[in-house]
Amino acid sequence: MSINLIATTTFGLEAVVKRECQALGFENIKTSDGKVEFTGTEADIVKANMWLRCAGRVWVKMGTFKAVTFTELFDQTKALPWADWIPEDGKFTVVGKSVKSTLFSVSDCQAIVKKAVVEKLKQTYHTDWFDETGASYTIQVGILKDVVTLAIDTSGSGLHMRGYRANALDAPLKETLASAMIQLSYWRKNRILLDPFCGSGTIPIEAAMIARNIAPGIHRKFASEEWERIGKDLWKKARVEAYQAINYDVMPEIYGSDIDPDAIELAKANAEKAGVDDCITFEVKPCQEIVLPGKYGVMITNPPYGERIGELKEVENMYRALGGIMKENPTWSTYLITSMEYFESLFGRKADRKRKLFNGHIKTDYYQFEGPRPPKDL
Ligand SMILES: C[S@@+](CC[C@H](N)C(=O)[O-])C[C@H]1O[C@@H](n2cnc3c(N)ncnc32)[C@H](O)[C@@H]1O
Repeated sequence: MSINLIATTTFGLEAVVKRECQALGFENIKTSDGKVEFTGTEADIVKANMWLRCAGRVWVKMGTFKAVTFTELFDQTKALPWADWIPEDGKFTVVGKSVKSTLFSVSDCQAIVKKAVVEKLKQTYHTDWFDETGASYTIQVGILKDVVTLAIDTSGSGLHMRGYRANALDAPLKETLASAMIQLSYWRKNRILLDPFCGSGTIPIEAAMIARNIAPGIHRKFASEEWERIGKDLWKKARVEAYQAINYDVMPEIYGSDIDPDAIELAKANAEKAGVDDCITFEVKPCQEIVLPGKYGVMITNPPYGERIGELKEVENMYRALGGIMKENPTWSTYLITSMEYFESLFGRKADRKRKLFNGHIKTDYYQFEGPRPPKDL
């Protein structure tokens, strides 16, 4: 029986995640704000978690219905087949959110859903008491304009947690967003990539992982690894296949630099953990001094935005300097994310394309300046 699945995404990345789902062979894909729905099997849950580079989490969609009273919420929640997923010893918690809905008290909705699920499981397992000593199941009750969606989280921690990054720097870019920035660019593994504000190395590392076909989930654990219905064998098989799929012979030419020596140390350590340290050159360097390595390269970067007190003038100068460097290297393409609304006037060129994205809670634009296509053999 096919399972209804949801891959959640940050605002603006739905189309990217949709393309990833298509490439993974999932069926009945449809997108709406912040999510991509598709159908699949237990093996597809494993595959989605292991391979989706840009999604936030993967959920089993249990049901969706309209509810404006607690009774409607309780009854329709109880009607769903919870025991299909949650075993008798399952430990489960309910999280929630409510937007523009009559049922606006999230804590009350969570309590009602928990009660309804317990009631259903009591009936199914013919028991009054649950030890909750087994695997964990996080149920989400999401209400948008009175329409309730109930789903169980198969991922656990968000999919941006790849397992290679120690979160020691401030303002790191989420790995999922870094990967999306790369996938939205024209960078391919045979072209040079440079991030002159690389911080902890997220963009270079994600690019190298794409080039070598390293599954984003290979170094981490997922909530549904403990689930009876999926079983350990599917996970083991997916991990073995993911290891076999890696191509260490691919040697992309990737560079990362940053003014902060601690950031560069961290980036090197992260790249090593991710298994890509041999194809990324990291260097301590202010952006004003970068020398672009070669022709037809691609710069993908997440510079400071000038939002911190006292930082604005310095950041404006940086953007100007970067614009000057890119002007002198017209075969290069630039992809840059920032919240600064007048970025193009400092950079000195109008973007060929611009896409609205959220970097955490910060509203940003992803500016895309395309250089000429490289000759065929590049
Ligand atoms: C928003 S953070 C980038 C975070 C990075 N994408 C990551 O995932 O860790 C901006 C980075 O720009 C660096 N930076 C600030 N001024 C710089 C300059 N003049 N030249 C080069 N790097 C600079 C900071 O040290 C910081 O690491």
